[in-house]
Amino acid sequence: MRNRVVVTGASSGIGAATVRRFAELGWETVAVARRADRLQALAAETGAHVIVCDVTDEAQVAAMAAEVARTGGANALVNNAGGALGTERVEDASNDDWRAMFEVNVIGLRTVTAAMLPILRAATEHADPEATGVDAGHGWASILNLTSTAGHSAYPGGGGYNAAKYAAHAVTEVLRHELAGEPIRVMELAPGLVHTEEFTLNRLRGDAVAAEKPYVDVTPLQPEDVARVLVNAFEQPPHVNQDLIVIRPVAQSSVFHTRRGPLAARTAE
Ligand SMILES: NC(=O)c1ccc[n+]([C@@H]2O[C@H](COP(=O)([O-])OP(=O)(O)OC[C@H]3O[C@@H](n4cnc5c(N)ncnc54)[C@H](OP(=O)(O)O)[C@@H]3O)[C@@H](O)[C@H]2O)c1
Repeated sequence: MRNRVVVTGASSGIGAATVRRFAELGWETVAVARRADRLQALAAETGAHVIVCDVTDEAQVAAMAAEVARTGGANALVNNAGGALGTERVEDASNDDWRAMFEVNVIGLRTVTAAMLPILRAATEHADPEATGVDAGHGWASILNLTSTAGHSAYPGGGGYNAAKYAAHAVTEVLRHELAGEPIRVMELAPGLVHTEEFTLNRLRGDAVAAEKPYVDVTPLQPEDVARVLVNAFEQPPHVNQDLIVIRPVAQSSVFHTRRGPLAARTAE
């Protein structure tokens, strides 16, 4: 088969930029999210095949996977759908927010991965040597999970988002162990501060003024920066597994340290 990738959470931010980048490099793309109008606009721009699907709904995910199989299969999956809700302390947080974060960032990731694995396995058996560079019957497949630096460092107010992304990191490791011996690589990309239009807005429940604050006086990553690094991992020879890729803006040395204002070389005293 030709290279064909399924990207969840493709209607905005990193997911949309990822679909654009794959398409630029000649991949066939399948764009998955809940908002049909945004997906249609992306399809008009990139030629993506669009599937409207809520990754927290098992029946919708099964229907999504069936449509992927029916329309040509896939040899790659990006589990990108996710997000944060709230910045409350653990003692003040809402269990509903925590459940929602787990549903999309962890259980949705598991549901999509389980539904897609038979399709990815089938792709390894029907590889097109011209597309993959390896003999037919010995193809490869790839999975990449979008976690976050919040899945590797906890911070006050991180609460449910930290817990969900740490869990997504753990699930990625478990999957890599469980798939060992199969020609399927399992990768994780953990970005730091990325200026996407909706992530912080959703986290802060629509407060547009507060949502811009993290990006003031600093040069954050853009979704296109993340997409370039992400797609590059899929473009490596198929036996190369980048287990964990961490990407931050230069101005951010950890979740606790973001340098605001212009960056300047230190001058000798
Ligand atoms: N922005 C950052 O600073 C940052 C940093 C590190 C990691 N990340 C992670 O990177 C990923 C993308 O983030 P982003 O900044 O691009 O966020 P975003 O702009 O808010 O995009 C999130 C995407 O996920 C989709 N989505 C949410 N719930 C879904 C569901 N139940 N079913 C299907 N799709 C769903 C949304 O589309 P619909 O609403 O149309 O379904 C949207 O396309 C997330 O996993 C996020 O946690 C972000």
